[in-house]
Amino acid sequence: MEFSSKFALVTGASRGIGKAIAKALCDNGAFVYLVSRDAKTLSQSAMDIDPTGKRVKAIPCDITSNTNIKELFKRIEADEVYLDILVNAAGIAPASCAEDTPYDEWKDTLNTNLGAVFSLCQNAFLSMKHNCGGKIINIASILGNYGASGLSAYCASKGGVIALTKQLATEWARYNINVNAIAPGYILTDMTKGLQNDPILNQKVINRTPLGRFGKVEDVANTALFLACNSSDFITGAVIPVDGGMSATLV
Ligand SMILES: NC(=O)c1ccc[n+]([C@@H]2O[C@H](COP(=O)([O-])OP(=O)(O)OC[C@H]3O[C@@H](n4cnc5c(N)ncnc54)[C@H](OP(=O)(O)O)[C@@H]3O)[C@@H](O)[C@H]2O)c1
Repeated sequence: MEFSSKFALVTGASRGIGKAIAKALCDNGAFVYLVSRDAKTLSQSAMDIDPTGKRVKAIPCDITSNTNIKELFKRIEADEVYLDILVNAAGIAPASCAEDTPYDEWKDTLNTNLGAVFSLCQNAFLSMKHNCGGKIINIASILGNYGASGLSAYCASKGGVIALTKQLATEWARYNINVNAIAPGYILTDMTKGLQNDPILNQKVINRTPLGRFGKVEDVANTALFLACNSSDFITGAVIPVDGGMSATLV
């Protein structure tokens, strides 16, 4: 896969899945804009991904603000760059029972995981229209299709990401913009640290996963690379599970 003339923006690029996807794109020749909130972690991530600094640019940004997203795209525009690839990987997963979830937590989760995805897609659209095509990859979750106790806002937000992916794929196909989602199962990142560190929950995840392990960030990054490259040109509106078979089995 060769992305040498391609420009990508990856949110959530300071760690976990977003960082792995940004690295995979960069390793395959793309220039990658890296976005997340904490400037220090993001700049370390940029160093890890490309120590020469020639094919990455870190732009700290809280994507819950639409004004921030507009500023972000102004900075990209100032570089005279038109994006070819957008990866929406930033996300949060606060846990609380539905009856106890503070409304602000619900709003923040929906805003980060879904509202910001819409705004980022909307802003990237102009670049992609100019380029006569593009690839948008949204990181959803298997929990966008299933319930999970204590994660009402998260499940609702990811269900929204799946619906939005299909809707935008339909609307923007005429511009040659492919919009797809990846639905990871349980992946080894900070987000699942609580599960990993609890021996009972850790074993429960492994037992319920036909392939018998947590996923690695590279498992998701490899699928993202496929969705970003020309080999997937006839795929749009798809939601690809990267979950070791968990969503294929009932018990
Ligand atoms: N890990 C899993 O098992 C799993 C499973 C299914 C789906 N997913 C999804 O995959 C994506 C990545 O998850 P992960 O496991 O890699 O999580 P992670 O390790 O917790 O990383 C989350 C990333 O999002 C960034 N972020 C969070 N809020 C943000 C905001 N308001 N503005 C900008 N950046 C923000 C974080 O950086 P800052 O905190 O510095 O902003 C960080 O870079 C998420 O959408 C998640 O829902 C993960």
